[in-house]
Amino acid sequence: MADRYLHLTGTPPGRFLTRRLGLPQPAPLRRWTLETPHLDGPLLHLTAGASAVTGVAEALRTSGLTVTERADRPAAIVLDATGVATAAGLGDVHAALHPVVRSLAPGGRIVVLGTVPSPDDHHQAAAQQALEGFVRSLGKEIGRGSTVQLVRIPVARIPGGANAHAAGSTLRFLLSPRSAYVSGQVIELTSAALDSGSGSDPVADPAAPLTGRTALVTGAARGIGAAVASVLARDGARVIALDVPGAREELERTADRLGATALPLDITAPDAADRIAAAAPDGLGVLVHNAGITRDRRLANMPADRWASVIEVNLDSVLRTTDELLKAGTITRGGRIVATASIAGIAGNTGQTNYAASKAGIIGLVRSLGPRAAAEHGVTVNAVAPGFIETKMTAAVPLFIREAGRRMNSLSQGGLPVDVAEAVAWFAQPDSTAVNGQVLRVCGQSLLGA
Ligand SMILES: NC(=O)c1ccc[n+]([C@@H]2O[C@H](COP(=O)([O-])OP(=O)(O)OC[C@H]3O[C@@H](n4cnc5c(N)ncnc54)[C@H](O)[C@@H]3O)[C@@H](O)[C@H]2O)c1
Repeated sequence: MADRYLHLTGTPPGRFLTRRLGLPQPAPLRRWTLETPHLDGPLLHLTAGASAVTGVAEALRTSGLTVTERADRPAAIVLDATGVATAAGLGDVHAALHPVVRSLAPGGRIVVLGTVPSPDDHHQAAAQQALEGFVRSLGKEIGRGSTVQLVRIPVARIPGGANAHAAGSTLRFLLSPRSAYVSGQVIELTSAALDSGSGSDPVADPAAPLTGRTALVTGAARGIGAAVASVLARDGARVIALDVPGAREELERTADRLGATALPLDITAPDAADRIAAAAPDGLGVLVHNAGITRDRRLANMPADRWASVIEVNLDSVLRTTDELLKAGTITRGGRIVATASIAGIAGNTGQTNYAASKAGIIGLVRSLGPRAAAEHGVTVNAVAPGFIETKMTAAVPLFIREAGRRMNSLSQGGLPVDVAEAVAWFAQPDSTAVNGQVLRVCGQSLLGA
């Protein structure tokens, strides 16, 4: 299962050989550790033209990096392009980044701040949409394990003018080692969640932001689910780890390791929501729908039971339990629901009509329910869409397809379960209220579905 090619390119002869042959050069990614929670170097804060938001510098300071307007070797560059509203204004984007892009340290971060393309002003819409093409292209060419993202801050609807405060948790995540396998993404913050009064709870303890919250993770015995449970526990949550009764032993081992409670339960059981509510008498602050299965066959060879089981586990049980737990008030105000899509749900995949349909369904669910759940319950609903992640699921993929899956992204390597878990933890942050209805691809900017 280990990525031997990544290891090979990390040795001097391997690097020499693969360079000569013109093969991909994956850079080892630096992920979060207790000893190295931040990027190593300053954050360069630039502005293209005049900014359309206030509070950017304050929001950037919460990243834990030293914010500066000049740096020889920045670990991160944030370009505030919220005020770019014309094609000519795009020249300011080039003028700001062109001289400094080469100086970005390896494993660095570039975040462009933009705003939502306007339905009423096609010049502003063109200029702001242009930033998306810019960011996605820069993500493909930057190399050396660096990443590039666009964060849109809504400018129009916030009384008293837009403040970048709502972007705080997002910038903290993107400007840290936690987002190592996220690149080429566009995140659109919402002001509606802020307007609804659901508030943006301040974080009392930045080292354990989920203290006092109970988080339930489905499919938590192994793989991505176990990593999500582990990262949420690290962030201070009381974790309930759910998996099928058949995986009880593995589930209990995982739960013991994390100090979590094991809940052996098939998520498709008709009384699943009641049993979850009974296991969390004080309510749930975080609900993570991670359980998922594949039953691959081309459509012409796919019997109805293979179709139905995938839709049932990956989509229908998510819809049902979400509805019931929201209705019963089990998910508390300020709560976070995170579901699991897949790039297969965006790009499609041979032999996966059932799986891709179920995962695309998750995207539909999140986009539709997010705004309403915020307005009615003060709860956000988001999804992660993992790309190629090194788990038992992908270890079972035939060698050549597996090798292609690993390399066909801007970082030229597969992700780790913890990369998905860090994205889930970002959605779960108490001050991620403005992050709603979003689907974040954790795929190293995969070429699939790009
Ligand atoms: N690994 C990847 O590359 C990848 C890519 C895209 C999406 N995903 C998605 O991420 C999620 C986790 O994937 P993984 O690779 O860790 O898979 P995995 O097979 O290693 O783990 C899935 C877990 O879900 C549990 N589960 C299955 N059916 C269940 C049910 N009915 N009730 C409760 N638990 C159930 C399994 O027992 C297992 O422990 C899935 O939704 C998967 O579709 C994974």
